Amino acid sequence: MKTFGFFILVFTAQCMAYTKEMNVYQLEGEAISEFQYEFRDQLRIFCFYSPYAVDTKEFLPKYKNAAATLKLNEAPITLAMIDISRPGNKDFSLKHDVLGYPAVVYYLSGLTEPRLYLGKKETNAMISEFQEMVFDFHDFSTEEEFNSYMTTHRQVQGLVLGVFQDYSGKSYDLFYDFAQKNSDAYKFGRVKGEKWAEKFGLEKEGVAVIRPTLLLTSYDTPFKSASKFSSKSDFENFIKTEIHPNISWVTQRNKDEFFNGPTPLVALYFNADPKMYSSQIKYYINRYADAVNQYFSTNKFKFVIVDRESFIEKLEADFLNTDKIVLVLYREEKKYVLRQSQLLTNDNKFLGPAIKEFLEGWEKGKVKKYVRSQPVPSKKIENRVRVVVGDTFEDEVQNSNKNQLVYIYSTSNPKSVEVIKTIEEVAEYFKQEPQFEIVKIDGSLNELPFMFDVSYYPTMYFSPKKRKDIPVRYSGYDYSKQKIIEFINPEEKKKKKEDL
Ligand SMILES: *[C@@H]1O[C@H](CO)[C@@H](O)[C@H](O)[C@H]1NC(C)=O
Repeated sequence: MKTFGFFILVFTAQCMAYTKEMNVYQLEGEAISEFQYEFRDQLRIFCFYSPYAVDTKEFLPKYKNAAATLKLNEAPITLAMIDISRPGNKDFSLKHDVLGYPAVVYYLSGLTEPRLYLGKKETNAMISEFQEMVFDFHDFSTEEEFNSYMTTHRQVQGLVLGVFQDYSGKSYDLFYDFAQKNSDAYKFGRVKGEKWAEKFGLEKEGVAVIRPTLLLTSYDTPFKSASKFSSKSDFENFIKTEIHPNISWVTQRNKDEFFNGPTPLVALYFNADPKMYSSQIKYYINRYADAVNQYFSTNKFKFVIVDRESFIEKLEADFLNTDKIVLVLYREEKKYVLRQSQLLTNDNKFLGPAIKEFLEGWEKGKVKKYVRSQPVPSKKIENRVRVVVGDTFEDEVQNSNKNQLVYIYSTSNPKSVEVIKTIEEVAEYFKQEPQFEIVKIDGSLNELPFMFDVSYYPTMYFSPKKRKDIPVRYSGYDYSKQKIIEFINPEEKKKKKEDL
């Protein structure tokens, strides 16, 4: 969790100098500390903005709408905004190392250190994320109550349940303290009495982490309990590792734990909003678990499910957004992908065994890394120019036995599209040369090997047949036919002089 270090001065609330608009407090200067004090027992959310930043106009109405709805819901959440360009806020804003504005920062109730909000900045997303972060305990008195809460509210994320004889004492304090500091990461519940201790296999008191109901497969146990912890971090580690079943759920808030972890991550993406697709999730996860359970007691892979809709930006960046379901294995900077066509039959049956085969193949080094690519074109040659994409680049350029001119354009750069005409004339000019060809590739839609670095469009390289590892970059901005011809064959320059 990223925190910003600064001190909060505690003032007694006298007359607060702030204005309120649609339930959002507009704060300046000392009013900020007064506000902090007055609402210290609530979740406090701050939007730092500058009226001069481009995104501000678009964001503030969304923020205000979220505040209005939260007020209607009587949530213990108070929202404020701070115009960092105001003279009274100049010093204050300097103490933050926020990267850009508007920035949303929050304080959990009772706490004085700020945390950066990393979720989506859309009204509905903010409403539900803010509500999720509120510090409270679900108190259960009967088992029915507990079971029904788990199946309706904790389908994909677990619950940390404190089991006590009384809500007091040293171990209760430790639990309370942890819950207060981590209400943005976990949900907490409390129960007391012997029958609960017995239910969770505890002697008297302890903590049980209850795993998410919808993600449990026949390989998982529904909870894990413990009563003795040697330290706070021991306690924290127990919760962090034990709350996940063998196949975990990734959220915007816990994604770093998985995507930046040391273990290769196997992520199955599909539309997995538990409110809408619970039976689909159940169907997929059971088959997924059957296919990969041999790895559950090893540390070779981490398995997760990712809701495609919530992570569509990630998929779009990788051009995998066309697949309704896709499996991605992340290892260091590389991606290995099992596409929808390999995961589903024509009548939408999920092919679990394909995953097992894929992982076994990967372990043997037989799976090729995924390269961002347009589909392989059906027409390979257009006006004597070979059309290459990310997937065919290695075969058709790096493994080619011809001298090649590699022309890299982008459809969003009109100049670079225009020059294709000239390129085709050059190809026509060299049509008698069997050892030479011109290839073109859209550099914005296809990944290129690092030696074909592109910083602007168009970019051209000469790739000699003898040194495929060292392409020669075309320098200059003159894209006339003659200049390109001379770049390909310097002899042409001489010829031209002789002609004169
Ligand atoms: C995961 O699966 C293994 C093997 O079946 C099992 O021993 C382990 O308890 C499971 N983990 C969880 C969290 O249920």
